[in-house]
This record gives sequence, structure tokens and C-alpha cells, in this order.
Amino acid sequence: MPSYTEYLKINELLALQRPLSEGPEHDEMLFIVIHQVYELWFKEILHELDHLVGLLARDDGARARGTLKRILTILKVLVAQLDILETMTPLEFLSFRDRLESGSGFQSHQFREREFALGWKDARALERYPAGSEGRARLERRFESASLWDAFLHHLAANGVPVPASDLRRDVTRRVEPSAALRDVLIGVYRGRSALAELCERLVDLDEGVMEWRYRHVKMVQRTIGTRRGTGGSAGADYLLGTLNQPLFPDLWAIRTEL
Ligand code: HEM
Repeated sequence: MPSYTEYLKINELLALQRPLSEGPEHDEMLFIVIHQVYELWFKEILHELDHLVGLLARDDGARARGTLKRILTILKVLVAQLDILETMTPLEFLSFRDRLESGSGFQSHQFREREFALGWKDARALERYPAGSEGRARLERRFESASLWDAFLHHLAANGVPVPASDLRRDVTRRVEPSAALRDVLIGVYRGRSALAELCERLVDLDEGVMEWRYRHVKMVQRTIGTRRGTGGSAGADYLLGTLNQPLFPDLWAIRTEL
């Protein structure tokens, strides 16, 4: 049996935190660790999302709801982790920020993969990764693949819900767009199909959780770097503010007024 250290590759893992600042600056360690932890959770979320899509395709609603709950719980941890980063003051961050050069979470291909997996497709995101790179190849695969939203619609249809054919056959490389016909169908699900309605609610939790992270991240950015430009080359907080309040699953929000 391998030991704890061997099985988890602890020595390799602990060798991966390499500050670039001289000294090095005390807070750079926190900055590296927190980003690495995020990337590990992104990896786990993608793993669970793929599993979830498979469960929906196999019509295993109970386990699908359990998997969604796990993803939602991880998402809460991702939001809570921003509290740790907020213990770093603006001056502490500035002490090593110039070492990041153009590095930014903006370039996280796993973050974009997660967006694509959830149905937030944007072909421009592909261009940010060099052709032939591992990140680009993974993103291209996600771009072409059906998203969680598509798997959800097919799951509804397999359970006798009259999902409009235009929604079932939508172009999966496009962002999920509002559909009036689908909204009527979803209202019917809420009124008469409690297990499927619960699944809808968990998707709304997921959507809200992603928006919550975006809100907390931009607040953290504003208090740490104000209105400075981002190291990834964007306008910084102004760019991030433009990504708020944009639901992944617009129809699940729109039906609230009519329920
Ligand atoms: C001091 C800490 C941080 C600061 C000052 C900061 C700042 C920024 C800024 C200014 C942007 C806009 C893009 C650009 O760089 O031009 C951005 C984007 C982003 N950051 Fe952070 N960030 C911090 C921590 C984190 C952490 C811990 C994560 C976790 C992975 C993260 C993930 C992201 C992601 C995914 C984006 C792209 C968002 C999008 O395009 O919708 N950031 N960040």
C-alpha cells in the first residue's frame, strides 16, 4: 500500500509554490496557494459536471440532484475563500503585483471550461489561448460539446415534458438564449412535477452561486487595486462589473414573475 505522502504526491504538491518576489514578499505565498486551491476545485467541479451530464443522460434524477448538491457546496467554499484573500491589504498586494506581469485569473482555462460546460459559450475566449496548446484543445472540446443546460432539457424531454424541438436542437456552441415557448413548459414543470422542479431550483442555486462569486471577486478587486487596469490587460474592475447579473439559465429566472 502506498503511504499518505506517496499516494497524494505531497512532496510534489508542496514543491509547487514558488514565489517570484525577492525576500520573498510574505503575502505572495497566500496569493499562490489560493489560486492553486481554486484551480484544484475547478478541476473537481469539471469532474462532477461531466458526471452530472452522464447521470441526466441515464435518467438518474436522484443521483443527479446529489451531484448538483456537491457542486453547490464546493461553490460556497469558492466564494468563502475570497474572505481569506481580503485579509491582504492593497499595499501588501502591491509589494509583489508587478511580478505577475500579464498573469491573471482571466487566463484560467479551467474557469472558461466551466463557463462553457454550464452553457456560457463565447468563441472569443478561445482566441486567448495559443492554437495547439493544451488549454485551447480542452476549451475547443467543451465549446463543441452540449452543455449542462442541454443535458437538462433532454432529461426533461425523456421524462415526458414537452420541451420545444427548437430548444432540444439548439446550436450548442451558442450561449443559452431566452425561449418564450420553453418558459411556458417550465411553468408547467413547477406546477406539476415536483422532482423535476427541485432540479430546476438546484440549477438556479448554481446560477446564483456563480453570480455570487463574480460579485465577491469584483468587490475584492475594487478594495485591493481600485480602478487600476488588470494584469490580464482588461480595464480591471470596470470589465468585471460588466460580467455581473448575467444569468446562465435566463428562463429559470424569467418564470418567477409568473409562477
Ligand atoms: C488580489 C487578488 C486578485 C486580484 C487583484 C484580481 C484581479 C482581477 C482583475 C483585475 C481581473 C480582470 C481581468 C484582468 O486581469 O485584466 C480578474 C479576472 C479574473 N480573476 Fe481575479 N483577481 C484576484 C484574485 C483572483 C483569484 C484568487 C481567482 C481564482 C481563480 C481569480 C480569478 C479570476 C478570473 C476567473 C477572472 C476572469 C473573470 C471573467 O473574465 O469573467 N482572481 N481578476
